[in-house]
Amino acid sequence: MTAAIEEEKDAKFTGSETEGGITSSYAIEDGVKLKVAYSFFGSIYDEDERAMIEKALGQDTLTMGPLTTEFQDAFAKKHGVKHAFACSNCTTGMHLAMQVMGVREGDEVIVTPNTFIATSLVVLKQKAIPVYADIDPRTFNIDPKQIAKKITPKTKAISVVHYGGQMCDMDPIMDLARKHGLLVLEDCAHAHNAAYKGRKAGSVGDIGAFSFHSLKNMTTCGEGGMLTTNRDEWTKKIEMLRCMNLTHWDPARKAWAWGGMSIEKTDPVQYWIPSHFDIDDVDGEWGNNYRMNEVQAGVGLAQLRKLDRLSEKRREIGRKITEGISGIKGITPVYEDPNGEHVYHLYTLCVEEEELGAGRDEFLLTLYRDFGVQGILHYQPTYHFTGLRKLGRYADNECPIAEKFFYKRELNLPMHPRLTDADIETMCAGIRGAAEKVRR
Ligand SMILES: Cc1ncc(COP(=O)(O)O)c(C=O)c1O
Repeated sequence: MTAAIEEEKDAKFTGSETEGGITSSYAIEDGVKLKVAYSFFGSIYDEDERAMIEKALGQDTLTMGPLTTEFQDAFAKKHGVKHAFACSNCTTGMHLAMQVMGVREGDEVIVTPNTFIATSLVVLKQKAIPVYADIDPRTFNIDPKQIAKKITPKTKAISVVHYGGQMCDMDPIMDLARKHGLLVLEDCAHAHNAAYKGRKAGSVGDIGAFSFHSLKNMTTCGEGGMLTTNRDEWTKKIEMLRCMNLTHWDPARKAWAWGGMSIEKTDPVQYWIPSHFDIDDVDGEWGNNYRMNEVQAGVGLAQLRKLDRLSEKRREIGRKITEGISGIKGITPVYEDPNGEHVYHLYTLCVEEEELGAGRDEFLLTLYRDFGVQGILHYQPTYHFTGLRKLGRYADNECPIAEKFFYKRELNLPMHPRLTDADIETMCAGIRGAAEKVRR
């Protein structure tokens, strides 16, 4: 490469140009001096991850090799579940989960409105119908009592999200599912290592799906996912749907005359004759390439080894924030359900407009502009989005708690394990200062 080309290349990568819209960065040049930014990296990488990348690069395969197997086994063990399947991300994993659960055109799937679009998207991809059940006002998770109200003869499954790192109230949800013959998907994108009554996320429902996106509590180079299940009867189906419907050629099957040769059965030595593999549908479903690569799996293994420390660190930070902001009139800190172990993927505080005399938006802007603490909103109720509205199915106030009670009050603070005590102090002082400034 000539020096001129090298220079041009360097000039392009200033670090400020990112792709990926909402998944890149919120940093904007608006004159605000940020003290604690909302970070898009949810974990910590060090020499362990680098060593695993080196190891993967030295292998003779870069996909579905020994590191993927080791990562799946270790992940399953850590989450107390029989089987785990690494996949390209949580959305593809959840799409596969819909396929394997038998969700088909016209079926209804009960979902929470308080989630990322992926949770509903995979239902829509199957031409099924997301039916929204409202949330619990303290945990912001789907409320089992609201689920019960939404069950109809068309309901096929329930898809729950462990919002912010705190697990849903799974016992009544599983009781309802068993009573009505429904399957349960746990969207564990926020909940690696979280627990409910001693059981880990992804081990309670019929199938669980995790995300290793850059923001998440553990990440495999920015993208990645994992499915978990205790259902032995699904393992082969999941493997086929993850990898383009591939299955072993059945040696007992009579082969056809091929290239002039008539072969009666597979020869274990001449293994490519008559075919490396067979292709079959899975209950009428066609799969995709939803695999993970070995570099990601290697990094995932290194991350898994530090997951307890990462979770503990987040919990410690979360509790310090709660301590630092408790007693501020008009600001409600996170509620920790005593039944669970919160892993603080998010720190969601709520602004009580009546007590503060100012709304959430004014508070959020003051916190940002005057105190340099960048908050963001998670989540607007899914059925608000244009594409969902076009379906003409959902009322404006479909889920009043998610809409008026939660979305109007909530905001998320920067939350990741690299936050220092000084960052936490800056955030708490900023919240106190912003509350005083906007108070009327
Ligand atoms: C609740 C929830 N579910 C699913 C996803 C999708 O995860 P992925 O980006 O790995 O597909 C996300 C990602 O942000 C999420 O927050």
